[in-house]
Amino acid sequence: MTSYTAQQDAAVADKAILANSAYADGRHLAARQSIYRWQQPQYDLPRIVVEELAGTSGIVLDVGCGNGKFVGRLHKDRPDVQVVGMDISAGILADVAKPVLVADAQALPFADDSADAVLALHMLYHVSDIEATIKEMARVLRPGCLLIASTNSDTDKQELDQLWIRAAGDVLGIPKGPARVSLSSRFSLEKAPDYLGTVFKDIRIRELPGTIKITDPVPIAAHLASYEAWAGQCGVPFHETISRAAEIVAATIATEGSFKIKCLGGFLVCRL
Ligand SMILES: C[S@@+](CC[C@H](N)C(=O)[O-])C[C@H]1O[C@@H](n2cnc3c(N)ncnc32)[C@H](O)[C@@H]1O
Repeated sequence: MTSYTAQQDAAVADKAILANSAYADGRHLAARQSIYRWQQPQYDLPRIVVEELAGTSGIVLDVGCGNGKFVGRLHKDRPDVQVVGMDISAGILADVAKPVLVADAQALPFADDSADAVLALHMLYHVSDIEATIKEMARVLRPGCLLIASTNSDTDKQELDQLWIRAAGDVLGIPKGPARVSLSSRFSLEKAPDYLGTVFKDIRIRELPGTIKITDPVPIAAHLASYEAWAGQCGVPFHETISRAAEIVAATIATEGSFKIKCLGGFLVCRL
């Protein structure tokens, strides 16, 4: 019998769910990105990628580019490189600076040794075969060139996971409800070096710790709601759980002045 976590993991890498629901447009991704407005310290993530690409010229493939946050900055700050945004969702590419391609990271439409850098930012946890996808990215890279991956730690935003378990428990009338789907755990900051190390010799990790302090339940409810595509994997009424979570957050803010969330994301800069 398939375990509950295995079912959730399969759903996180389900291409139909990803392309037609989770990332059919940029709405849910934007809700998750927007919560970082309240993080201290602030990190300019596109700036970090621009810095890491300082020695790179030629072709940069942003695989799983989503709503084009990184593509847009590269066009602006590095007009000398040719950036190609790629995603399995045609819808999310609508507003991304051209050229863009609807493409699957697991079968890149590029020749061997044709790219100077590949970006795989917060996306490798969504592919069903992570090892094969890393090999596919290495295939299109010229010798000595860069893969920049990013993801979150297993400890990232645990307060939101705990909030969900408590709210789901309240909705179901039990002490602890089922855990919500975890997006990054299949390729977390802790697991990523082993995966990448099977292909890349030189891996440098840039960790980005921070704390989000929020005084309004609305962005937190929007963050939880951004998992709607996986509502069927929750084992609890989805919208009711979000309403209960918003009440818990409001009560925490009333007593403690804010709701705090510890974050840990990071980049892995890898060379062949
Ligand atoms: C969490 S978003 C990250 C977007 C962007 N890279 C960023 O960091 O802001 C993950 C993106 O990867 C895309 N994606 C998931 N699986 C993919 C695959 N197999 N091939 C290409 N894109 C994929 C999704 O459609 C989504 O836009």
